[in-house]
Amino acid sequence: MALVTSTEMFKKAYDGGYAVGAFNVNNMEIVQGITEACREEKAPVILQVSKGARAYANRTYLVKMVEAAVIECPEIPIVLHLDHGDSFETCKSCIDDGFTSVMIDASSKPFAENIEITKQVVEYAHDHGVVVEAELGALAGVEDDVNVSAENSHYTRPEEVEEFVAKTGCDSLAIAIGTSHGAYKFKPGTNPQLRFDILEEVSKKLPGFPIVLHGSSSVPQNYVEMINAHGGKMPGAIGVPEEQLREAAKLAVCKINIDSDLRLAMTGTIRQYFDEHPDHFDPRQYLKPARANIKELVRHKLVDVLGCAGKA
Ligand code: G3H
Ligand code: 13P
Ligand code: ZN
Repeated sequence: MALVTSTEMFKKAYDGGYAVGAFNVNNMEIVQGITEACREEKAPVILQVSKGARAYANRTYLVKMVEAAVIECPEIPIVLHLDHGDSFETCKSCIDDGFTSVMIDASSKPFAENIEITKQVVEYAHDHGVVVEAELGALAGVEDDVNVSAENSHYTRPEEVEEFVAKTGCDSLAIAIGTSHGAYKFKPGTNPQLRFDILEEVSKKLPGFPIVLHGSSSVPQNYVEMINAHGGKMPGAIGVPEEQLREAAKLAVCKINIDSDLRLAMTGTIRQYFDEHPDHFDPRQYLKPARANIKELVRHKLVDVLGCAGKA
């Protein structure tokens, strides 16, 4: 199977009450860990590349690694998606490079400007058979070099979504309902609670339309502890409760973005490895268990959180 768009995936996810996992990829081991789990669990998958990842690996390597995954995993549908495209030019460049889906994130701009930029991307993307995710509302946290403080974040306003989707022609919409980027999403000791009332209102206004959740890592405490036990310092790292993501996946949420959890699994595993094997220096030795733990983490997400195992 060649790379696909998310159109069919989202339709099946919406009707089937599950979500597709959108995992960020930065290197070969991450691509392999994710796609090996998806192949074994027969799950559709979205591999997403941020502007920062593209700058880190350069514009060719990640595309070619995802194409390698398509060859290695012919049984499952794979989307190559640009995460948080910041401009028409970045989106165009990814479309020209063979991405099948792009996100234009103009959510920090005023409403009318967000519509204008998103519309321009949609026109170019649709002319090239590529789908577009847009965003309304502002998540807290760090993405690429933009750091949105908790005070500057705001929930999506349901009264804006119909006009936004109608005027832009976007194919899916990311909304802000209390998730945030990074490993520090909620204050320790508080009770994390997503705004399901906003999700419900949005989906009533956009029946059948795929909704996306960013900032949806759950920050597994076993990996936070592993990092802290082996020289790291991540006190108070807290994520979105997995039960709430499972609930969202049963509703209109068709795409759930996970990046930080993969980073924690990789970093924790490597830190522990170095502690236990101070004389080792072959990268294959420490990247192998890191890749294996990413694979098991992704398997858990597919089966227990997203509900998309067996849906390929
Ligand atoms: O939402 C942001 C993603 O976690 C990507 O992060 O910009 O550091 O690659 P990055
Ligand atoms: P996390 O930081 O919660 O993994 O969010 C990832 C994300 O939204 C990528 O766009
Ligand atoms: Zn995001």
